[in-house]
Amino acid sequence: MSEPKNTPHSSLFTPHCLLVTGGAGFIGANFVHYWLKNYPDDRVVVLDALTYAGNLANLAPVENHPGFRFVHGDIRDYDLAVNLLQDEKIDTVVHFAAESHVDRSVHSPDAFVDTNILGTHNLLKAAKKVWLDSPQSSSHSPQSSSYRFHHISTDEVYGSLGPDDPGFSEKTAYAPNSPYAASKAGSDFLVRAYYKTYGLPMTISNCSNNYGPYQFPEKLIPLIILNCLEEKPLPIYGDGLNIRDWLYVEDHCLGIDLILKNGMLGETYNIGGNCEKTNLEVVNTVCAILDELKPRNPQTSDLSPQSYASLLTYIKDRPGHDRRYAIDASKITSELGYVPQKSFASGIRKTVEWYLANQDWCQNVIDRNYQKWIEQNYSQSES
Ligand code: NAD
Ligand code: TYD
Repeated sequence: MSEPKNTPHSSLFTPHCLLVTGGAGFIGANFVHYWLKNYPDDRVVVLDALTYAGNLANLAPVENHPGFRFVHGDIRDYDLAVNLLQDEKIDTVVHFAAESHVDRSVHSPDAFVDTNILGTHNLLKAAKKVWLDSPQSSSHSPQSSSYRFHHISTDEVYGSLGPDDPGFSEKTAYAPNSPYAASKAGSDFLVRAYYKTYGLPMTISNCSNNYGPYQFPEKLIPLIILNCLEEKPLPIYGDGLNIRDWLYVEDHCLGIDLILKNGMLGETYNIGGNCEKTNLEVVNTVCAILDELKPRNPQTSDLSPQSYASLLTYIKDRPGHDRRYAIDASKITSELGYVPQKSFASGIRKTVEWYLANQDWCQNVIDRNYQKWIEQNYSQSES
């Protein structure tokens, strides 16, 4: 997808009326908080089906903001999408809604194809109809368009890296290994095709593993925090030496902001944290912070007080487990001035502190259908 290069910091587009799909999930909710904090005069409409991963409590901090509206609905509902784009005069779609957990895609891939591929296609069709096909459409020339469709994707579409390989760049060939990654790759291709074929004004970002407040505790970091607090085993897949490039969620929001305003239409931008860590490093760091902030209760451990790290348990590996992800973020850095603001040391501490301070949120999530998944995924997984 090659277009003339953009000069850094020259704002090409100013969003005012955003439709944020999946805004009740982890990254979507953080994005809504970020946007309304930084652009309080904007309109933000969240469209979310409130699946197991969606949680209205994630949006509590903005529920009384005058520009905020929540719509309970499915991205696969074409009429709803068309009506929202028209009625709310949406100029920017930021598309987060997805089935997002690799392990669930191993157990039940159908929902991933339905939501990630068909759901994305449905939104593209709706945006094309309202923005390009209607007589009132301001322009059919994508570069001068007053609309944006920004699609949130993942580094997992690029497959797995060897220990000495360079990080994924925007030119890396797609090689998805899990049903999740394949469904995201399919959606990326559809977004690209709507640009190339119809001129739908779009951008894509492929980011690395996010962490931070409001993450559903099926993902590694919040799962480890909650298991520590409940004195449960800390499940480590395989040898624990798989590597991820950890991105603090607010830095991801910053990257999206820069792309929306300054990104070139039709382009993909990789967003990373410049922070490669093995799973063992991550889990041991979480344990060390908890040892300091909330030492284990002496009565519930054999020898007191032990580190939470003694709860580490190696279990059977995830099928098709990608060994290493790493992002080469040089394009977004050089073209749009993106620099992640949060070090892992401060981001992970802030995250642990957030979960400790939000025990009600955690309990509410645990009470809502969470145990069923934990039993399904971990019951037969001895290494
Ligand atoms: P999440 O699972 O926490 O949230 C997904 C949200 O989408 C939920 O609120 C859910 O209710 C909603 N949703 C699901 N199906 C829907 C449908 N059919 N209609 C409307 N809403 C629906 O996910 P997340 O971690 O916040 O991820 C957001 C996006 O970022 C996803 O597209 C994901 O692929 C991508 N991503 C995530 C990560 C990560 O580390 N979490 C990394 C790279 C990319
Ligand atoms: P996860 O948070 O599921 O993100 P992703 O699979 O999208 O990278 O997992 C991060 C890493 O942690 C991954 O290598 C799998 C590993 N992992 C475990 O070792 N144990 C667990 O219980 C989970 C959920 C993940």
